[in-house]
Amino acid sequence: MAGNSFGKLFKLTTFGESHGPAIGGIIDGCPAGITLDLDKIQEDLNKRKPGQSAIVTQRKEPDTVVFLSGIFEGVTTGTPIGFTIENANQKSNDYSHIKDAFRPSHADYTYSEKYGIRDYRGGGRSSARETACRVVGGAVAKQLIKDIEIVAFTASVGELKLDKETDELDFSLIESNPVRCPDPETAANMETYIKEIRSQGDTVGGTVKCIIKNVPIGLGEPVFDKLHASLGQAMLSINAVKGFEFGSGFEGTKLKGSEHNDLFNQDGSTKTNLSGGIQGGISNGMDIYFNVAFKPVATIMQKQETINSKGEFVEMQGKGRHDPCVVPRAIPIVEAMAALVLADFWLQNKVSKI
Ligand SMILES: Cc1cc2nc3c(=O)[nH]c(=O)nc-3n(C[C@H](O)[C@H](O)[C@H](O)COP(=O)(O)O)c2cc1C
Repeated sequence: MAGNSFGKLFKLTTFGESHGPAIGGIIDGCPAGITLDLDKIQEDLNKRKPGQSAIVTQRKEPDTVVFLSGIFEGVTTGTPIGFTIENANQKSNDYSHIKDAFRPSHADYTYSEKYGIRDYRGGGRSSARETACRVVGGAVAKQLIKDIEIVAFTASVGELKLDKETDELDFSLIESNPVRCPDPETAANMETYIKEIRSQGDTVGGTVKCIIKNVPIGLGEPVFDKLHASLGQAMLSINAVKGFEFGSGFEGTKLKGSEHNDLFNQDGSTKTNLSGGIQGGISNGMDIYFNVAFKPVATIMQKQETINSKGEFVEMQGKGRHDPCVVPRAIPIVEAMAALVLADFWLQNKVSKI
């Protein structure tokens, strides 16, 4: 299986399956001399971990990261940073029904066809449990690029949208509710809706908005590694993501050039920011912002028709502990992937001119 590493200079490789003994990763290329705040890394992991509120999967995992290398007396040594996170709460019997049958819209069929063998327990490698390792990698990256501020929050759940401009939002309220929406009234409606959907044995999708401030000018490597292209790859590599839109996005297509152009101030900043902080694939110093769309995830507690490995139609009903809406738990994952991209380009930018 290829494709388990992300990044060029600041590179994260992850390993492990949902119901194996542990998942883990190696961060290669992290410069020496960074004093790591390990509590901050664990804090980010706690935001992703299952069982944290009534509206997420009730799988109980402490998700404690154990660092094995690359850190001496709290400081990075420049050598590979290896880490593991134990899988402490597997209930593999919950998954015997998918041993020979494929969950519609999950990864069971494609993994089986591609590899001819599949660790079906908890979805194996296709489980979003893997994203805990991305959160660790991203949390280390954040400490390398500590002046850059990355904030993500829930912008919609199903049809319920956060109808406020970014400058009207108080980001300190994001963690005040389990939905991670900075508007408490909208958050309460979203929470009620997610509970309703869960009681119907169903799932619902939503969007995450991410805003990145204090980005230095010059990050991004044209032409194939444009900053927005790499952010897009990072976000689209997260489980259940169906869309990525940055800057003015699809709405921007409705404007004329005369309305869409970001006119300059004399210092090079722009009066508007429909470009989303990136021009020609390179950060221009303005805020970067983008939206990430998450689908209603596949495992529903309702009966659905599917096929088994013999190609016969069978009936399947979801079992086990699943997320009715993954968006609240996806917030730290989006932030982590953004941090990995920015840290990598921050390092690459060091050789762009003499
Ligand atoms: C934080 C998070 C939690 C998830 N939890 C579940 C879940 O409980 N049940 C499920 O069927 N899918 C869940 N998913 C999505 C699956 O991992 C994903 O849909 C699956 O691997 C197939 O990949 P695809 O949807 O990207 O095609 C979750 C995704 C994320 C980001």
